[in-house]
Amino acid sequence: VSPLDDIVIRRLNPSDSFTELTELLHRAYAPLAAMGFRFFASHQDVETTISRCKKGETFVATSGGRLVATVTLRLPESTRDCTWYDRDDVASFGQFAVEPELQGSGLGSKLMSMLEDRAKQTGAAELACDTAEGATHLIDYYTRRGYRLVDTAQWEGVNYRSVILSKSLT
Ligand SMILES: CC(C)(COP(=O)(O)OP(=O)(O)OC[C@H]1O[C@@H](n2cnc3c(N)ncnc32)[C@H](O)[C@@H]1OP(=O)(O)O)[C@@H](O)C(=O)NCCC(=O)NCCS
Repeated sequence: VSPLDDIVIRRLNPSDSFTELTELLHRAYAPLAAMGFRFFASHQDVETTISRCKKGETFVATSGGRLVATVTLRLPESTRDCTWYDRDDVASFGQFAVEPELQGSGLGSKLMSMLEDRAKQTGAAELACDTAEGATHLIDYYTRRGYRLVDTAQWEGVNYRSVILSKSLT
């Protein structure tokens, strides 16, 4: 029996709790904070979660009615903040989290495949994301999935330099 058997992936809907979503983000990102990377998702408040979700299409995975994973896809028209994201054929994703006890079982990869299909469907040629330059396990994770380094950025409010990674969808 796979741990993913009873998991449903769907769009976030109005009856979902942003508090529950924020708590999931905090739990998933806590080890990164412990490593010294102050990702917004490790400490952001509920209002920030709401505004970040509204910038794109948010997907969740549920298990027995509980939120166990999430990711937000930002379509090309709503991605800014760096030259690569500014391109009108580049979609991006963020707030990417899997419940700690389910990490490493393939749910993250399943969400990424779904996002790549969805981004392609909307006409994007590239799907990009960013992470901390020093989070080598994440850079390796994305690289294994076909993402390549395209740029670096220094976002306000974080204590690390970011790398921008992107995957061709064509
Ligand atoms: C990044 C994240 C969303 C990936 O989701 P996931 O469900 O753990 O991912 P998968 O199971 O598809 O893949 C995890 C990879 O790490 C490996 N892995 C092994 N043990 C693991 C563990 N205990 N925890 C995490 N990954 C593990 C898996 O083998 C897999 O590698 P491979 O498939 O390339 O060989 C999730 O780990 C997470 O929430 N991390 C904390 C938040 C975070 O880093 N977000 C992204 C910020 S840019």
